[in-house]
Amino acid sequence: MTALLETRGVWQRFGGLVANSDVSISVGRGEIVGLIGPNGAGKSTLFNLIAGVLPPTQGSILFDGEDVTHMPAAERCQRGVGRTFQVVKSFETMTVIDNVIVGALVRNTVMREARRKAHEVLEFTGLATRAHVLASDLVPAEKRRLEVARALATEPKLLLLDEVLTGLTPTEAQTGVALVRKVRDTGITVLMVEHVMEIVMPLVDRAIVLDLGKVLVEGKPADVVRDPKVISAYLGDRHAVGA
Ligand SMILES: Nc1ncnc2c1ncn2[C@@H]1O[C@H](COP(=O)(O)OP(=O)(O)O)[C@@H](O)[C@H]1O
Ligand SMILES: [Mg+2]
Repeated sequence: MTALLETRGVWQRFGGLVANSDVSISVGRGEIVGLIGPNGAGKSTLFNLIAGVLPPTQGSILFDGEDVTHMPAAERCQRGVGRTFQVVKSFETMTVIDNVIVGALVRNTVMREARRKAHEVLEFTGLATRAHVLASDLVPAEKRRLEVARALATEPKLLLLDEVLTGLTPTEAQTGVALVRKVRDTGITVLMVEHVMEIVMPLVDRAIVLDLGKVLVEGKPADVVRDPKVISAYLGDRHAVGA
C-alpha cells in the first residue's frame, strides 16, 4: 500500500536561508511518526509545506495518492490534512465549543451537525466540561488540547501536531500522550513534531530527525536515540548517559 504522505526532495528557502534541504520522508497509514530535531532544524517549516501554508521552493508533496504540492491549505484540509500550530491560534474571544465548531464546519455545512460533531470531539479530548468557557480562560494545557480538538473536528486522515506536548507538566504531557494514542486508535495517522525526546520516543512507531534542514537519521525510536549522529547533533553528550 502506498504511503499516506510523502515528501520528495523538498526544499524551502527564505532568501539566503535554507530551512528545508532535499527532505524526502514518508508516513504510512496508521503510523505515529515523530519529527524531531533541535530548534531551527526546519520542523515547523516542513509542517507548513505539508499543510499547504507555503509552496515548497522545490520538490513535491503527495497526500493520499495525489500530488498536492500546489494545492491551497483549505483544499488539503478537505482532503484530510489536519494540523495544529506551534503558537496556539485559538480564537481567544470565542468559547471552546465555538472554536471546535469552526473546525467541524469544514465537513458539516449544517450548523446542528457541526455542533454535534464538536460536542463529540470535546468528549473525546476531555474538554466537555469546558465547552462554554472562553478559550482565553483555558490553562495552557487545555489550550493545546483545544488546538487538537479543532483539528480533529475537521475529521483528518493525517493529524499534524506541532509541539503540543512541549512545555507541559509531566502529568499533562502523559495525558497528551494518551490522547495521541487514542487518536491513532480511531484510524488517524499522526505526524508529530516534538522537541522533547523523552516524551515523544516512547509514543512513536518511527522517528525522523531533522538537523539544519536535512533528514539526519530515521528509524525505530530505540535505534534513533542511540545513533551517535543524533546524540551529537541534538541530545548533546550530557544526555548520552545510558543511551
Ligand atoms: N517565514 C520565514 N521567513 C524566514 N525565515 C524563516 C521563516 N520560517 C522559518 N524560518 C527560518 O527557518 C529555519 C527553520 O525554522 P523552523 O522550521 O521554525 O524550525 P523548527 O520548527 O525546527 O524550530 C529557522 O532558521 C527559521 O528562522
Ligand atoms: Mg517549530
